Amino acid sequence: MDYTRFFSDDVPSFMRSPVREIFRKVDLASIYSFAGGYPDASTFPLGEMEGLTRRVVEKYGARALQYGGTQGVPELREAISQRYGVPVDHIQITTSSQQGIDVCARVFLNPGDVVLTTNPAYLGALQSFKAYRAAVHRLPLEEVSTPGESTPKSRSFSGAICHPRAKFIYIVPDFCNPSGITMTLEERQALVDFARREDLLIVEDSPYRELRYSGSDIPTIYSMAPERTLHLGSFSKIFAPGFRLGWIIAEPALLEQIFVCKQALDLCPPVFDQYLAAEFLSSGALDRNLSKSIGLYRDKRDYLLSLLEKYMPSGVSWTHPDGGLFLWVTLPEDVDTVAMYDSALAAGVAYVAGSFFYLDGSHRNTMRLNFSFLARERMEAGVKLLASEIRKAVSGSQLIDSQFIAENKSAKNDDLFSGSH
Ligand SMILES: Cc1ncc(COP(=O)(O)O)c(C=O)c1O
Repeated sequence: MDYTRFFSDDVPSFMRSPVREIFRKVDLASIYSFAGGYPDASTFPLGEMEGLTRRVVEKYGARALQYGGTQGVPELREAISQRYGVPVDHIQITTSSQQGIDVCARVFLNPGDVVLTTNPAYLGALQSFKAYRAAVHRLPLEEVSTPGESTPKSRSFSGAICHPRAKFIYIVPDFCNPSGITMTLEERQALVDFARREDLLIVEDSPYRELRYSGSDIPTIYSMAPERTLHLGSFSKIFAPGFRLGWIIAEPALLEQIFVCKQALDLCPPVFDQYLAAEFLSSGALDRNLSKSIGLYRDKRDYLLSLLEKYMPSGVSWTHPDGGLFLWVTLPEDVDTVAMYDSALAAGVAYVAGSFFYLDGSHRNTMRLNFSFLARERMEAGVKLLASEIRKAVSGSQLIDSQFIAENKSAKNDDLFSGSH
């Protein structure tokens, strides 16, 4: 049967995630994976789950298995309110921060509207924006820091021209996925000034903010412009992604439309999970667990950086993130990380090609590496493999260059010959 006529006009705009395609094809545990943004499984509080579950059952009884309010259970909203110092009526619980992005897209965007974001940008957000047939444009930054640079240049918006259909800015200011870069305070202020001048909303996506391993906290964009910012938080990287829980902090007038939108999406966020998260948070277990995770990830980040230093061939550079789960690698111009991917996977090592995060698919000489998932003791073998694949690709591209030069020379000789006849 031909199903084409049944699909909506939105369907052709759906974008498949190359990252999730990788997971479909391979068992991550069987290879050296620097690909996904999976937390280290040892950070999951398995030991506490039995006690937490029992407490939820005893404390909330049947309520824990019943439908809940669309805005989230009061206990979790209260715990988030206390942790982040925002009023309860400014908090909407979401079924993960991916849903937070998606409801923002659904509530604010008409087909043809414009979202402004960084280039590269988080792929899951691009998928949402495109699904609502919005156009995604690069933020009009005057001076853009490229992810390959370890110290970003300062960025400014003065004099920048904004698209007339721009609705909001989508930004991951802390330890960005994919680049690992963190916006400075000055850059945040410039972004806020720009949003105020152009009357734009800001969607501040912050799933990594609490995973800082060096440097000091920089104020959230929400704290600088609460009237126009929707701050998205997530329990995925600080508790467990399997619970699919996140939150939005914003003005109640904005949350009201998101509340109505969420009624149609899923009626309410998962209730049992919310009670577990509320207990985890208010008992202090989240903070204890977080400080263990930070120690572990700091060590893994430092170890990966030292391995890159040791094994990567010259001409390769990478970012030095202060937190989060990713760093960004830039290879010599003529190396194509999309083309070398199959061979790397066959050799047993996975990464995500950087061009997938670019609005125009450019920068094929870049890749994103995750340092949270792979066990520390497997990292060295993984980096050695990756470095050897990169070396092959570098010499392959040099070979192609020299073949090209040789062919061009002989073509010129042929011309000379034909010219002489
Ligand atoms: C920047 C960013 N936003 C949102 C998400 C989605 O997270 P969640 O598991 O809360 O849906 C991710 C996941 O990797 C991410 O990197």
